[in-house]
Amino acid sequence: MDDKARAALKNGAIRHIAFIMDGNGRWATKQGKTRNEGHKVGARVFEETASYCHELGIRHVTVYAFSTENWSRPRPEVDALMKLFSNYIDTAMRRFHEKKIRVVFLGDKSVFPRKLRAKMEKLEKDSESFSDILNIAFNYGGRDEIVNAVNRLIREGKTEITKEDLASHLYTAASPDPDLIVRTGGDMRLSNFLLWQSAYSELYFTDVLWPDLDENDIDEAVKNFYSRKRKFGKVL
Ligand code: FPP
Repeated sequence: MDDKARAALKNGAIRHIAFIMDGNGRWATKQGKTRNEGHKVGARVFEETASYCHELGIRHVTVYAFSTENWSRPRPEVDALMKLFSNYIDTAMRRFHEKKIRVVFLGDKSVFPRKLRAKMEKLEKDSESFSDILNIAFNYGGRDEIVNAVNRLIREGKTEITKEDLASHLYTAASPDPDLIVRTGGDMRLSNFLLWQSAYSELYFTDVLWPDLDENDIDEAVKNFYSRKRKFGKVL
């Protein structure tokens, strides 16, 4: 990363970066490993990536770890992802706590077993006072999130709403909209991720498979971000 990009980062120019962590399965197949082994390496890269972005001074980081559509994967893969996630709450996510990072889970927690849900809620509560945020989208879908926000507003008695009302009822209410969304694995789509929040996000797609993503790749995405002119619909 060049000095200009580093200086801009220090000034908080990227406030929020989000990742669609795609390619674990293909990475594993290429290595002759099982898909679950791919997810395990993916989880390690998730921790490294979140920590690196934090070190760069990016105060909000979001990762897409499990979508509302991922339940339709083969049962053993879903079970393995749940187990990995649960173990991670005990280990890596505790380490984020030591770095004073607030962990927020995006998505409907009511579907998880009581014990797992309690662990998630405890981690959120324990880190509530920290201002740097790591959002982990788990059982998350952008359309679901919007419907959930609208239903909450209806329950609160609203009959007409503003954009601000909606934004403040999304799972991401504590974070600004993402400046940059990075998707690994070569596909160029959002896959139901941050649909409302991505209205003016810069999108960056790379063929690198998630388990191969390293600090140089993140630097590259950040450098690319700084080469763009953000117009937010205006003529500049
Ligand atoms: C997409 O790759 C990845 C997932 C559905 C799971 C993402 C999970 C992790 C990175 C690890 C677990 C995360 C935490 C927070 C502990 P894919 O399986 O669709 O890959 P493919 O497109 O190559 O098949």
